[in-house]
Amino acid sequence: MTTTPVWQGQANLTCLLRHEETADCTRFEFAAPAGIHIDFLPGQFICLGGLIENQLKLRAYSIASDPAVQDRVSVAIRRVPGGQVSNWLIDHVQPGSQVPALSPAGSFHLTPAHHLDVASPRHVALFSAGCGITPMVAMSHWLLAHRPDVEIHFIHSARDENNLILHAEVHQLVARHPGFHLHHFLTRPQTDRPCHVGRIDAARIREILPAATPIEAYLCGPQPYMDLIADTLRAMGIADHAIHSESFFTPQAPVAASGEAAASYALNVPAFGSQNQIDSTETLLDVLERAGLPIIGACRTGVCGSCRCKVSQGEVHRTQTGPLSPEDQQAGYVLACSTHARSDLTLELG
Ligand SMILES: Cc1cc2nc3c(=O)[nH]c(=O)nc-3n(C[C@H](O)[C@H](O)[C@H](O)COP(=O)(O)OP(=O)(O)OC[C@H]3O[C@@H](n4cnc5c(N)ncnc54)[C@H](O)[C@@H]3O)c2cc1C
Ligand code: FES
Repeated sequence: MTTTPVWQGQANLTCLLRHEETADCTRFEFAAPAGIHIDFLPGQFICLGGLIENQLKLRAYSIASDPAVQDRVSVAIRRVPGGQVSNWLIDHVQPGSQVPALSPAGSFHLTPAHHLDVASPRHVALFSAGCGITPMVAMSHWLLAHRPDVEIHFIHSARDENNLILHAEVHQLVARHPGFHLHHFLTRPQTDRPCHVGRIDAARIREILPAATPIEAYLCGPQPYMDLIADTLRAMGIADHAIHSESFFTPQAPVAASGEAAASYALNVPAFGSQNQIDSTETLLDVLERAGLPIIGACRTGVCGSCRCKVSQGEVHRTQTGPLSPEDQQAGYVLACSTHARSDLTLELG
């Protein structure tokens, strides 16, 4: 018996279709590379992009499609004002386009307990806002197929009915299972279709979820939204390890310690004959990209590992190390998107 190889690393994906979900969000479906399967855990992302201003630029997009379907994959991409890659993809990718991509990655996915079908909570709460709905749809597909014993509380926030992403697909999921409970929170509803009016809050989370029952919760949306939900779930007695969250966007935190003046250092990449200045508030990635060096910053939040590089000399401050092994860190590897200079630096790329 022959087994189909699984996609690993970089490949070009062919766009099969595009569908305008809302005025600022487009769903794309891509075929797997020829003769290869796409294997991913529900909740993971792929990186997609293009040659933009003569540089390969990629960003992370959570997979929204059913993990059981391995010959294609779909994502929903939302415009970001002033953004480089998402707007470019929406403006340029059409059926037939070849799009550079990195294979599925990410640690935000259903827990092994659900995968292994061992004793695990019979209630799963999927909280999303805006584009954060994408990983929740993939998780729902998986749960409905593999764990019909689980009640899914699918709780989604948007401005109004016109801003509901993957709406048709979510309604198909509702129709598949009586244990799929859909709750929409709309801040400015335009119709009298049933929904919760206004923002989600602690009182309404308590009304929706069963009390005193083990729940596994997954959160994806803006940080204040996720903080509110996580605080409420903890107050309801749900353990930290049962609350999983992913942010699509991490605003750059000021990195200088309080009272510490911003400083400027040398950033050298000898293999490319490149010498640059780096400010202590900038990430290594900011400077490497500006210098036109070949580095991929796909997620820019320290989750994908695409910007891994080695500090061979100098001191750094790391804000994320997620995908790096302890051995890698010991050897001087850092994530350029999540690392700041604390002295003159010498780097090796790749
Ligand atoms: C794990 C993961 C999964 C993701 N999944 C999806 C997805 O399913 N669909 C999707 O559309 N996007 C998703 N994103 C976000 C996406 O990868 C890009 O970061 C985002 O679209 C912006 O990229 P850009 O190139 O357009 O903007 P950039 O050129 O990177 O940024 C332009 C400006 O916008 C700001 N900015 C960047 N991202 C945001 C944001 N989300 N909200 C507000 N301001 C922002 C930046 O600070 C900058 O000032 C995901 C991100 C991660 C890390
Ligand atoms: S860009 Fe993904 S970890 Fe740095």
